[in-house]
Amino acid sequence: MNRVVVVTGAGSGIGRAVALRFLALGDRVAAVDLGRDGLDALAPDAAPDRLVRLAADVGAADEAEACLREAAARLGPVDVLVNNAGTSGGPRATTLHETPVEDFDRVMATNIRGPFLLCRLVLPTMVERRAGVIVNIASVAGMAAFPGRSAYSASKGALISLTRSIAVDYARFGVRAVALCPGMIATPFTQWRLDDPKLRAEVVARIPQAEVGTVAQAAAAVTFLASDEASYFNGAPLPMDGGYLAL
Ligand SMILES: NC(=O)c1ccc[n+]([C@@H]2O[C@H](COP(=O)([O-])OP(=O)(O)OC[C@H]3O[C@@H](n4cnc5c(N)ncnc54)[C@H](O)[C@@H]3O)[C@@H](O)[C@H]2O)c1
Repeated sequence: MNRVVVVTGAGSGIGRAVALRFLALGDRVAAVDLGRDGLDALAPDAAPDRLVRLAADVGAADEAEACLREAAARLGPVDVLVNNAGTSGGPRATTLHETPVEDFDRVMATNIRGPFLLCRLVLPTMVERRAGVIVNIASVAGMAAFPGRSAYSASKGALISLTRSIAVDYARFGVRAVALCPGMIATPFTQWRLDDPKLRAEVVARIPQAEVGTVAQAAAAVTFLASDEASYFNGAPLPMDGGYLAL
């Protein structure tokens, strides 16, 4: 479709599947991640005018700005921004009083400051062009607390609110924003839990569909939400969770 799409956290998991799906649709992709390893393995044969690999920490203002400047210079103005990069903060970021302040700050920097910075950079051009879609990858943890993940749940709740604010402030300029809220998806992010048979059984027991989701399902949801077929979806948090939140 030849849109310019920025996907953060594209070196792994959901972001990788999203980037590959946009490429397969004929779009041009700026793939952003912390390091080069995952990015170098992403579509190694893609032409340089179809895929640009950018190493950046989305939570660092200077890196976010440099990265979007380079994406626009090499591919053109951004049509779609997918804020997917995320972290749960590691094993110490659990219940509130156990979460080290630096872990809280790191979760917030990646999961909410990053999307804020990137949206801030793409919105002026989207407003000018009267077009643009922002898909924020939040989580069911932003809609209902996820046990033992207080910073993560707070960050994803904030991302859902940020999405609503963008919809309310920018709809009149032809810009849409939606928050996809996945439940448990099999990725390197969740692998430790799903690789343990006991933990996996506990997870699956809480999902009405009795199965974890796939990155392909998440990528299909993102490309749909970014498409004109989804042109009346705006501002809403959309669970994609096999029925988890319906229980
Ligand atoms: N997997 C799930 O079950 C699940 C469920 C709900 C929401 N999510 C959300 O989906 C998104 C992707 O998760 P995933 O499961 O694919 O994880 P993942 O760990 O496989 O991939 C995340 C990617 O983000 C990158 N990243 C992390 N911090 C970054 C930063 N500061 N700047 C740039 N890149 C950064 C990582 O390097 C990694 O490549 C996250 O926002 C996560 O919160 C995942």
